Amino acid sequence: MKQAAIVGAIALTLGCLTTNAQADEGAIQYRQAIFQAIGGHMTALVRIVRREVAHTDDIAVHASGIADLAPLTAHIFPEGSGEGRTDALPAIWRNADDFASRREAFIEAAEGLRSAAGGPMGQFVGAFQTLGGTCSGCHDNYRAD
Ligand code: HEC
Repeated sequence: MKQAAIVGAIALTLGCLTTNAQADEGAIQYRQAIFQAIGGHMTALVRIVRREVAHTDDIAVHASGIADLAPLTAHIFPEGSGEGRTDALPAIWRNADDFASRREAFIEAAEGLRSAAGGPMGQFVGAFQTLGGTCSGCHDNYRAD
């Protein structure tokens, strides 16, 4: 009887562990999907800015896509989502204040890009470069190569 209770407790514990691991894995995959979407809009904009395609009318869609997604970065780094199949470095949770300020700079630059869409191309390219700097500003410190 006692043994059955212990086995039951172990099974329960393992069940909880599995659930947590699955939640973390889900959080990681969700985060990566958000960044892939942001990256997709950035790649599309590079093609337009380099005049490889003539879709300048699409600029506002991509700029808004990035600006809409950027604030989601505030909740896609929950505690525990730094372990598993992720390139997110532990420093994210250790240097939470610095990470948050880089995230805010990114969100602000994304809003700047949205505002610059539809304006003169030179100004848009400037906003695009500023935004690109905030991507690498975070990746260089908080993403594994
Ligand atoms: C505040 C930090 C931060 C900012 C700003 C940021 N990223 Fe990232 N990015 C990360 C981290 C951390 C990862 C690793 C996520 C993981 O593997 O769980 C990542 C991953 C990615 C990935 C790979 C996703 C995958 O498939 O695994 C792409 C693409 C990406 N970012 C693009 C961008 C672009 C483009 C920008 C700017 C427009 C940007 N990121 C801004 C932190 C940031």
